[in-house]
Amino acid sequence: MNLQSASREQLQAFEAELSQQYDTYQAAGLNLDLTRGKPSTEQVALSNNLDGILSGNYFAADGTDLRNYGGLDGLPEMKQLFADTFGLDASSIAIAGNSSLTLMYQSVMFAQHFGLGAEAWNKEEGEVKFLCPVPGYDRHFSICEELGIAMIPVAMNENGPLMDEVEALIKADPMIKGIWCVPRFSNPTGCVYSAEVVGRIAALGKIAGKGFKVFWDNAYAVHVLNDNAEELTSITDCAKDAGTEDNILLFGSTSKVTFAGAGVAFLAAASPALSAFKKHLAISSIGPDKVNQQRHIDLLKDAEGFKRHMAKHAVILKPRFDIVEKHLSEGLAAAGIATWLKPEGGYFVSFDSMPGLAKEVVAMAAKAGVKLTPAGATYPYGDDPLDTNIRIAPTYPAIEDIDQAMGIFVTCVKLASVRKLLSA
Ligand SMILES: Cc1ncc(COP(=O)(O)O)c(C=O)c1O
Repeated sequence: MNLQSASREQLQAFEAELSQQYDTYQAAGLNLDLTRGKPSTEQVALSNNLDGILSGNYFAADGTDLRNYGGLDGLPEMKQLFADTFGLDASSIAIAGNSSLTLMYQSVMFAQHFGLGAEAWNKEEGEVKFLCPVPGYDRHFSICEELGIAMIPVAMNENGPLMDEVEALIKADPMIKGIWCVPRFSNPTGCVYSAEVVGRIAALGKIAGKGFKVFWDNAYAVHVLNDNAEELTSITDCAKDAGTEDNILLFGSTSKVTFAGAGVAFLAAASPALSAFKKHLAISSIGPDKVNQQRHIDLLKDAEGFKRHMAKHAVILKPRFDIVEKHLSEGLAAAGIATWLKPEGGYFVSFDSMPGLAKEVVAMAAKAGVKLTPAGATYPYGDDPLDTNIRIAPTYPAIEDIDQAMGIFVTCVKLASVRKLLSA
């Protein structure tokens, strides 16, 4: 039943019923956690063959001794593996360390202080700013906060950021030097940027100030829940057509493919940005972990092997996402008090309550033993102006725990909404 059109008596009856249910949950003293956007133990175990896979052979195909220094920007076979999997040119790739987030942090810092194929942002008068499509990834926002970059939120829909707004802001302010994008299975909405949006983002360099960069964080590029999941248009192809290749920095890693924390990460860019990045990298490192790169080459082998490996993740993840969707649709679809997207990949479900209720729902769930990501975390400065967005992360907990936690979550949403409607 649609709660928005329910009578006062009906709402009062619901309130009594839901309160009772909520009290039962509270009394149960549960301890469930839907905050962790990380792979489950079952998922990381899919890559246990990394251990010992080299069988004592520490030499790469070209004879490089993997154990020694050198090979700053990665083994050629690892670059080719990423190139084939992500639809890139191997010569545009630099591999460094295990964390793409570190490469993003370094890229922002290098662009700010030294310039990445353009003048350093800090040399210009005025405050450096980034556009932040919202809801978005809190760690992108933390990078900006740490480095003193002002953030301008821009709304998104199921096709990606609202491009009329993005273009107007960029045209009006040459100190907007970057935009964060998670283009496929966005964190947290799960949307895939449409071909039109990708094309328009690729062309932003034509209207932006000097040294503008698109931070294309393709963290979930291959993390599909089903074979027919929507594909992402190639931004590098669009940028080639638009003549804006210098404006694109693309990132990815195997963190949620093999071992989170012991994977391989890369940056892809056109030179001179790529060569500038490598120059600074060479100051801070004598060489990456090539042993781990070779282990990944041997485990995943090629783009098809990559895909086969991701299909095994999907088998583990799909039932988890299905149970979230089941609770939301059965509990809330008819109630008219919430919206959410049904992602075809990625790690999250993004949930929007009635305005002004997200913090309340998170607090209520916590009291009933369900930990959720703090409301507001998906917005710059932790400030969700409408207080609606809640990020649900179903990958890590056991299915039974998700089932139980989502039952409680739905009760909290309904109870908070009914109380709000009664107080109106
Ligand atoms: C959008 C996004 N980018 C980057 C990362 C982190 O990637 P990495 O492990 O390669 O640093 C995450 C992890 O959750 C993420 O959601």
